[in-house]
Amino acid sequence: MLNKVKWQPEWVGTKMSQKDFLTIEQCTPNEVMSLLTDALHMKKLQKQGIPHPYLSGKVLGLIFEKSSTRTRVSFEVGMLQLGGHAIFLSSKDIQLGRGETASDTAKVLSRYVDGLMIRTFSHSSIEEFSQNATVPVINGLTDLHHPCQVLADLLTVLEHKGKLNGLKMCYVGDGNNNMAHSLIEGAVKVGMHISVASPVGYEPNADILYQAKLDAEHTGGSVTVTSNPVEAAKAADVIVTDVWTSMGMESEQEERLKAFQPFQVNLELCEHAKKDYIFLHCLPAHRGEEVTADIIDGPHSVVFDEAENRLHAQKAILKALMD
Ligand code: CP
Ligand code: NVA
Repeated sequence: MLNKVKWQPEWVGTKMSQKDFLTIEQCTPNEVMSLLTDALHMKKLQKQGIPHPYLSGKVLGLIFEKSSTRTRVSFEVGMLQLGGHAIFLSSKDIQLGRGETASDTAKVLSRYVDGLMIRTFSHSSIEEFSQNATVPVINGLTDLHHPCQVLADLLTVLEHKGKLNGLKMCYVGDGNNNMAHSLIEGAVKVGMHISVASPVGYEPNADILYQAKLDAEHTGGSVTVTSNPVEAAKAADVIVTDVWTSMGMESEQEERLKAFQPFQVNLELCEHAKKDYIFLHCLPAHRGEEVTADIIDGPHSVVFDEAENRLHAQKAILKALMD
């Protein structure tokens, strides 16, 4: 797949300019492409059974304040494949869940581990961790961002389309959630055109949009927001959606179910996309709500490649920050 991409030598070995991986926005375009290059490299090694213990003897702490299947398992397996070890720390079991501060937790854990991954609610909590930890901090999802998932999404698009630059991505659904925000940041960072369709009142965060539009001026990408899903899906190379009710929003479920009905990804909507479009969903999915079964289980869906790519993309992040 690598040879289908017009490769730039500066993508190889670009060093991360910051200690942490909290948002895609904080990375330069070259850093994003370098992470994707390294992910493809390690994916190949893993498929060929070639050991790649870049993090031999290193330990990653995984703090979860919300549920997870993919993030937990892909980080644990990723650390093992890199020759290191991961420790799962549920907030229910550690003192953080009983009121110990994020700053004390970050300072203490930094004395034991070589990196921390955190899944939490408010984005300011992870920023507090980042400011107080002396080891790299990786965002495993906050209410505002899901950058590890989006790196895996970009990797999946790159593998299936052979390029990223110039492609049209259409995101339909909750424009104000973590996936929408990180997709906006990730797409413009690599020169894609992203069109977000969401109901009025569920549009993306204004600051994130503003910054993405500035980034797009440098990369040739673009971001548009509409309340018309057909307009967003028109000639799209990639269609993406996410749950209508994210973790922590459960009390709004009923009103969200009503508001999002016209924003379902189904056969009728996908007819407006390019004939060879691919469908992405970070999972978990609710068939019959944000997406119909004939789409997510149909021939255009690459959701299980996308889920697998969490492992490969995250190994690149871990190596870049902890090696
Ligand atoms: N996509 C994703 O982050 O899945 P989990 O919630 O299972 O980790
Ligand atoms: N937006 C979803 C993503 C789950 C991986 C949530 O926050 O629940």
